[in-house]
Amino acid sequence: MTMVADDIQTLEARHVLQTYRRQPVTFVRGKGVYLYDTQGREYIDLLSGIGVTALGHAHEGLTRAITEQAQTLLHTSNLFYHPLQGQLAARLSSLSGLERAFFCNSGTEAIEACLKFVRRYWHTLGETRTEIIALEESFHGRTIGSLSVTSDEHYRAPFEPLLGGVRWIEATPAAIRDAVTKNTAAVILEPIQGEGGIRPLTPAFAAAVNEACERTGALLIADEIQSGCGRTGYPFYSAAIGLEPDLMALGKALGAGVPVGAALISGEVAARIVAGDHGTTYGGNLLACRAALCFIDELVGGGLLSHVGRMGQHLEQRLREIASRHPMIREVRGAGLMRGLELDRDAAAVVPAGLRHGVVVNRTAENVVRLLPPYVITEAELDEGLARLERALTDVSGK
Ligand SMILES: Cc1ncc(COP(=O)(O)O)c(C=O)c1O
Repeated sequence: MTMVADDIQTLEARHVLQTYRRQPVTFVRGKGVYLYDTQGREYIDLLSGIGVTALGHAHEGLTRAITEQAQTLLHTSNLFYHPLQGQLAARLSSLSGLERAFFCNSGTEAIEACLKFVRRYWHTLGETRTEIIALEESFHGRTIGSLSVTSDEHYRAPFEPLLGGVRWIEATPAAIRDAVTKNTAAVILEPIQGEGGIRPLTPAFAAAVNEACERTGALLIADEIQSGCGRTGYPFYSAAIGLEPDLMALGKALGAGVPVGAALISGEVAARIVAGDHGTTYGGNLLACRAALCFIDELVGGGLLSHVGRMGQHLEQRLREIASRHPMIREVRGAGLMRGLELDRDAAAVVPAGLRHGVVVNRTAENVVRLLPPYVITEAELDEGLARLERALTDVSGK
């Protein structure tokens, strides 16, 4: 049955819980960095479904892998072994330096797992440390634990009381030095704050975090859900700025479109966790692991990581040129293929203007245009996407 966009939107308006404010566009197909709507209009995707479809749309290798897996075996639960979970855990361990992985299905679940593992660690050691230090402008997800460490009052207020004992600080060496004490169970941070407006943490701050955790024994959770898995041209941005996390949360690009999340855990923390402490029905099933293994093969073996590094530099250079022509752009921020343009006004109007010109971007932190293009994007595709974005910016600036 083919449905036209109006039918689709009417049906949703009637039956889908209205928690999202969608743009009035219905995508039905994609190929590489291109998306197509119900009218067959083409768009360049500079957002990747918020940092997810790293291999672009309808990637041949990924399609082959998940088709073959569907024809073989999709799911058996965590009551049994299957051949892929250990392989994926080993790949992630060699990329991150963290010994073990726990698999789940989304970013927020990865954060929940990290928070539980922190609690379990201190419980096993017989200490009642429960205080968590988080950062202002942080976003870690929408379930109760991850919402509890997210700073935005607007997201939090309707759901209080949340977990207690969370404190938010500015991302400065002095603030972290003062905040972390022997009562601190963990520090949680995004190496590049995503929803907060594409704000990379500095190496000086990272050094102060390491030092504070070392001094007090507090654990460090790096939320690499948006900044990790090659998005910045590094496997994980933590390593680029020198952070030494004990736990890492992954999601988004890891399954390249198939929902996969993971918590990576140091040997020392993992040694305090025993059978029955945590679990999930779907986590790390064959389909999810197959997709993630295919993604990692492309990223590491297929040379995609160095491609992201090169495209990231090209993107930054082009964005700086655009900024020099548009005074409403106050700052260009980010790393690799994770970039933000801070405007001197609300960036909401850029999104529909982009769609009119055939490019998909998004707005975050009110005044930031966010770009998270697929890793496979070429220089020519980036240039075309940015030319369309520049037309949208011109419309919005009223020139
Ligand atoms: C840094 C960060 N943490 C956590 C999340 C939550 O992930 P999910 O939406 O998959 O639950 C997101 C999603 O935007 C994120 O960017």
